[in-house]
Amino acid sequence: MGKDKVQIFDTTLRDGEQVPGCKLDTKQKLVIAERLDELGVDIIEAGFPISSPGDFKSVHEIAKLVKNATVCGLTRAVKKDIEVAAEAIKIAKTPRIHTGIGTSDSHIKYKFNSTRERIIERAVDAVAYAKSFVEDVEFYAEDAGRTDNVFLAQICEAVIKAGATVLNIPDTTGYCLPEEYGAKMKYLKENVTGIDRAILSCHCHNDLGLATANSISGVINGARQIECTVNGIGERAGNTSLEEVVMILRQHPYLNLDTDINSKLLFDTSRMVSQKMGMPVQPNKAIVGSNAFAHSSGIHQDGVIKQRETYEIMDPEDVGVTESSIVLTARSGRAALAYRAKNIGYELTKLQLDVVYESFLEFADRKKEILDDDIHQIVEASNISIKSIA
Ligand code: KIV
Ligand code: ZN
Repeated sequence: MGKDKVQIFDTTLRDGEQVPGCKLDTKQKLVIAERLDELGVDIIEAGFPISSPGDFKSVHEIAKLVKNATVCGLTRAVKKDIEVAAEAIKIAKTPRIHTGIGTSDSHIKYKFNSTRERIIERAVDAVAYAKSFVEDVEFYAEDAGRTDNVFLAQICEAVIKAGATVLNIPDTTGYCLPEEYGAKMKYLKENVTGIDRAILSCHCHNDLGLATANSISGVINGARQIECTVNGIGERAGNTSLEEVVMILRQHPYLNLDTDINSKLLFDTSRMVSQKMGMPVQPNKAIVGSNAFAHSSGIHQDGVIKQRETYEIMDPEDVGVTESSIVLTARSGRAALAYRAKNIGYELTKLQLDVVYESFLEFADRKKEILDDDIHQIVEASNISIKSIA
């Protein structure tokens, strides 16, 4: 049986760019958009066109440039927003308007001083208006994570009737547990009339570190689009990380779900976005962190040198990392030292290794990490005759 496709909706240039200090200019956004297109994302959320003339220009230029992906512009459920977004994206090969409104009781009461009935009317009007400009209209129910499921189903049903093609169910505050978020998707799948005419989309924030888990739970329960950002960048604790969801689906084939992402570009894309946004990637970040395929303890190193799969669940080359690294520290063992010494040209016998290892440990207790130059120094100072294989 063929795998079901999960669409990747990248919002690095919209939700990701909302982070203080991460603002990009149009030129930088174009370079990133081109790379996202090459990476194979299905939808690029290029920005929020009404928010500023600069954002309008960026969305418009991205719409002109992108060859494969759908280009999407965000709006509130406000006529002027929709008109401006429609203008910005109209040149795209496949344009999408992403419109919506807060649906939780807290948003309805405090943000809008409104009622559930009036919110449904505004949502329907916004979707119908967006539909007069483009065929592809995505509706977001902001704070859906804390919205009552019965009301959420009612508003979803109403916007599908008005022409929505995608229903975005954001866990805006990153509050849901994976079971809860998955159950929400299942509830909508089972209780919304017309749901077969729309795609359910996961949009999860990471306030409790659950954005990736919630998105995966969402697709296991019927959603077929994930909204995410490169490196998980985004407001507060960030959004779902693109590279994580893509590799989770790929490494768990029995889920029968996959994306069209060219995973070999993940590492390079991560570095490109990090550099352009001036936002470093934490070393222990899953998939793309500098330590994601680095082994430093003796037991792990010994295993990886014998057989990579002992301590790695994916091939680094699949995400564009050339090879696993064996990092030498005072916790490393003989196998790792021999391996690294061999890489730079020293073939050590067992006896020679014993001698060199003693000096290595003394050196390593004084230094955080032993580099190739240090190995040369240690070997040469060991005063033994070593066969160089270089
Ligand atoms: O987190 C959220 O609710 C959003 C919407 C505007 C889609 O980003
Ligand atoms: Zn968001």
